[in-house]
Amino acid sequence: MKILVTGGAGYIGSHAVVALSEAGLTPIIVDNFSNSDKGSLDGIAQIIGHEPKFYEGDCRDRDFLSNICEQEKSNGEPIAGVIHFAAFKAVGESVAKPLKYYDNNLNSLLSVLEVMDAQNIGALIFSSSATVYGDPAPVDLPLTEQTPRKPATNPYGATKAMCEDIIADTVTAQNALCANSDDTENSNQANLRKLSAVILRYFNPIGAHNSGFIGELPIGAPANLVPYLTQVAAGKRGALTVFGDDYPTPDGTGVRDYIHVMDLADAHIAALKFALAQNSNCAEIFNIGTGRGTSVKELIDTFQTATGITVPHTIGPRRAGDIATCYASVDKAHQILNWQAKHSLTQSLTDAWKWEQNCTKLSSLL
Ligand code: NAD
Ligand code: WQD
Repeated sequence: MKILVTGGAGYIGSHAVVALSEAGLTPIIVDNFSNSDKGSLDGIAQIIGHEPKFYEGDCRDRDFLSNICEQEKSNGEPIAGVIHFAAFKAVGESVAKPLKYYDNNLNSLLSVLEVMDAQNIGALIFSSSATVYGDPAPVDLPLTEQTPRKPATNPYGATKAMCEDIIADTVTAQNALCANSDDTENSNQANLRKLSAVILRYFNPIGAHNSGFIGELPIGAPANLVPYLTQVAAGKRGALTVFGDDYPTPDGTGVRDYIHVMDLADAHIAALKFALAQNSNCAEIFNIGTGRGTSVKELIDTFQTATGITVPHTIGPRRAGDIATCYASVDKAHQILNWQAKHSLTQSLTDAWKWEQNCTKLSSLL
């Protein structure tokens, strides 16, 4: 079964491509390499044993996406579902360049939805983010899918909330079309089309495939904790700054729900199976995390114990826009998708470290 994977050369997408292949599905990657490198396709090939199929281009381009669907259909089998990763994701950059984010993240989704409709592709998995919950009140923790979203504090977060709404509105319209299907004019369309969408709200993805062949490739100084920490451990950066130790958390540092990227990748397989099995339109939301909160200090300690490497770090001021605590309730994903995270924090950090060492070697070869 062919699955179109937009952004499949990126950090999470490349791991999902591996998981799809291992699940016996055929991923078809679409990427414009705006935030990734073709080297990730080589890494995927080393893991799965063959070159993944890929098309280079921009998924805002409807003709480009339609042509891929037509070409795949003429090659024997139509595309059965789409996993839509392609988006820009840097929170800070989104504040400085909001139009870049609104354009790419919204228009990519609109294009994907329109082409899915025209091509009669009924299953969509969308990458959303825990950022839509905003700054949770202690009473909201752990965050469930019913916890109300809060207004976004940055344009990146706003695009994720808008994309969730666009998907929900599209499903509502499709339901209305089906309800009116007695009307002969609408009946053909209603019978033909279906949209089963799954919105996955990722918490904090970390780590890498344990082969060390693929992982996160931040451009410039990493904004996220784990890639910054591994670069410090590798001697690429001087010291890690812990952004604040005066939060209302057990040790004063920020608490997050860190999930191994391969667990996250597996959640896409479970979500896809769910979406493909639906006979009616739906837009189901699932939190994808571990259900466990870890502080910055705990994470540094776990890394040091797992690797034996001391990570120089200092306490700095809070980072603007940061929240104290965020972790998921993952009961819904467990109950409905039969999915839960399997990797420990130690394993996630060990794999992140392995990737850091390998990617240093790879970049020295370029
Ligand atoms: P990434 O930047 O590594 O991957 C995104 C990929 O999409 C890149 O390969 C990029 O080149 C490609 N891309 C971007 N715009 C495109 C376009 N218009 N056409 C074709 N390709 C395009 O990011 P990631 O960390 O793998 O994130 C994947 C998705 O998950 C994104 O939607 C992101 O917002 C979401 N997400 C990420 C995190 C995280 O912490 N990494 C957390 C929550 C949600
Ligand atoms: C984690 C913790 C920091 C760096 C971001 C996005 C979110 C989502 C995931 C896409 C916090 C602390 C960090 C450092 C530190 N992305 N920290 N020193 O902020 O939870 O989430 O990535 O959807 O939208 O906002 O992740 O890894 O940046 O920070 O002390 O050098 O580490 O303060 O407590 P965050 P992060």
